[in-house]
Amino acid sequence: MLKNLISFKKIPLSNSLLENKNENINYYDLNISFDDDTKLVSVVDNVNPEELFPDDYVYDSSQSTTMVNHFKDCAEYLQKRFIPYNTLEIGSNSGIFIRHFNPDTTIAVEPCSNFADITNDMEYKTYDSFWSTHLAKYIRLTHGTMDLIFSANTISHIQGLDECLTNVKKCLNEDGVFVVECPSFLELLRENAFDQFYHEHQSYFSMISFRNLLEKNGLKLFDIELVPVHGGTYRFFACRQDSSIDVNHNNINKWETEEKEFGVDSYNKLKDRMSIMKKNMIDIKETLQKIKSENKNIIGYGASAKFIQVSNMCDLNNNLISYVMDTTPDKQNKYTPKSRIPIEKYDKNKLKNVDYCFLGAWNFLDEIVEKEKEFISNGGKFITHIPKVEIIDK
Ligand code: TYD
Repeated sequence: MLKNLISFKKIPLSNSLLENKNENINYYDLNISFDDDTKLVSVVDNVNPEELFPDDYVYDSSQSTTMVNHFKDCAEYLQKRFIPYNTLEIGSNSGIFIRHFNPDTTIAVEPCSNFADITNDMEYKTYDSFWSTHLAKYIRLTHGTMDLIFSANTISHIQGLDECLTNVKKCLNEDGVFVVECPSFLELLRENAFDQFYHEHQSYFSMISFRNLLEKNGLKLFDIELVPVHGGTYRFFACRQDSSIDVNHNNINKWETEEKEFGVDSYNKLKDRMSIMKKNMIDIKETLQKIKSENKNIIGYGASAKFIQVSNMCDLNNNLISYVMDTTPDKQNKYTPKSRIPIEKYDKNKLKNVDYCFLGAWNFLDEIVEKEKEFISNGGKFITHIPKVEIIDK
């Protein structure tokens, strides 16, 4: 049975940036629910995937040094640990992960054609399509079953998880491994990261819920790690239920205890967590209003999907945040949807006239504070809202 956890009215899609400030946009309610059976927390309102992941999708993981290094390390680690002959990546973005694999034995699936074109040009056979039963059948027939199926920040975007996971099972070798990276729901709760709730993020996986879903669909979890990207990401290791791979029970039990202590499988405890997040939303707006009343200026740093969510959930606009700087060319000279804050090209010089930067890319805090040492030493301050509103001035 589904039970409502938290709801937001009239939220735009987080990647639907505006070309013009006054452009019309589509709004959707965002209802997050808890499933009593699987313990999965997910979005109830289904938005058409073609609208969520269009052919000009703007999120390019290669824009961040942290992510470039992360996927290089991850690729090397998986190659060493599992020695795969052939590999499939589901949701390959601009090739940040597969570029470390041999193009002759590696294929990819990526529905956003702007990215699929990039990896096809890099000689990786990339299917410009959503992960579907039809495509899984075709891949199995054409390329055979896989030693490694990898997917980062994608499975949590897919509607219809049972079909998705059954199709993974069909494409996996008997002792093949399925490695999934997704933001950890446990870390989201620890960080009060309500800005991770948005329509593209269909599911919020705890280990407990993901294990239940795998088991429902002929797969089993054999190991888990926590990696420090996107505010805390789970790396799940799964295989077919009939595989001879050993299960790391000690590690899985440790995480299960930790998740249960935190209440990820308890509706009532999750409801309490949501109340803390709602209070933080009020604190954010009040803090920004107070800074503005002292005649200081505030800009945003990083027009992440999280920034767009926080601006809309906390009802911020460009009276409070003059503009947001971002290094991604496809985002520049556009406007955030609903909050209609201009997105400008990142320029270090502009920081000379800035008092406060509201950290939209809080998951890159260390990288950004290191990069902007001069801004801070000249008296500039960062504002973060994770896990609660705080000013960073050193
Ligand atoms: P990110 O957190 O990667 O993703 P999401 O959109 O899923 O929340 O987005 C971070 C954004 O911040 C991205 O648009 C790039 C931008 N950015 C900068 O502008 N400067 C930086 O130094 C970093 C690290 C990111």
